[in-house]
Amino acid sequence: MAYSGKVALITGGGSGMGRAAAQTFASAGAKVALLDVNTAGMQETAHGNGNIHSYPVDITSAEAVNNAVEQVEQSLGPIDRLYNCAAIMPFGKIMDQDTATIHKIMDINYGGFVNITKAVLPLMLNRGSGDFVSFASMAGIQPALLMGGYNASKAAVAMLTEVIYHENLNSGLRFACICPPPVATPLLQQGKDTAWPKLMSEQEGQELQPIEVIEAIESALDKGEFWVFPGKSTRMGYRMRRWFPNYTWNYIHKLEGW
Ligand SMILES: NC(=O)c1ccc[n+]([C@@H]2O[C@H](COP(=O)([O-])OP(=O)(O)OC[C@H]3O[C@@H](n4cnc5c(N)ncnc54)[C@H](O)[C@@H]3O)[C@@H](O)[C@H]2O)c1
Repeated sequence: MAYSGKVALITGGGSGMGRAAAQTFASAGAKVALLDVNTAGMQETAHGNGNIHSYPVDITSAEAVNNAVEQVEQSLGPIDRLYNCAAIMPFGKIMDQDTATIHKIMDINYGGFVNITKAVLPLMLNRGSGDFVSFASMAGIQPALLMGGYNASKAAVAMLTEVIYHENLNSGLRFACICPPPVATPLLQQGKDTAWPKLMSEQEGQELQPIEVIEAIESALDKGEFWVFPGKSTRMGYRMRRWFPNYTWNYIHKLEGW
């Protein structure tokens, strides 16, 4: 995207990859709207950059999301790019995790994605242009012990994104479904604070930087690629899951020791 004068809306822009995207787009001349519950985080993202605008919104409220999208379009102009980043990631064995927590993960990660999609996608479709960038995860492709609630939410995001893409193939929009491996952002701490599978600790020190993911997305959009697997061996992980699911589960059981 030639950024100058374009409008990007980023949910979860108060931290991590949303922040990296916001700062990248804004410094290249785009007007950026952040939707997040983390107001302090949004201020840090904006860091005095007049191109970045904060909208304190809980993504689980369809009404609040619709109002914010309306305000963004009125004050900044038509949204050219959507980044759906807002998410939470508490881990735990399903039998140990609160029922309310399992529901909350789905409400934010999947329900929030539904809300922002229903608010922004019709506007883009009416105009016949826009970049629809949806953050799933490798955790939405490869399930793992202790990660079930999060796995389910990200699998739901990936599945819905794929259907949305195919339902709107000739719409003029560009669609991308992002499936990163671990990325060095505050999100990982939520997992560490709850339950940390050996599968995750095995990958410590190899996390991607947020900007590497943003660059991978940019390159995929330019090439017209829908699935985005940032990082060197991520696509191989996807293939292993598809072709050898028993092998990957055996590996996980052996690694975790149960
Ligand atoms: N970090 C990773 O290892 C990793 C890997 C693969 C995929 N992802 C996905 O990438 C996306 C970005 O993750 P990140 O690592 O930058 O996370 P992050 O924790 O750094 O940022 C997520 C943001 O979402 C916001 N948020 C949470 N609940 C919200 C709500 N109800 N309403 C509005 N905003 C809310 C948080 O306040 C936070 O600012 C997420 O969808 C995540 O699932 C992350």
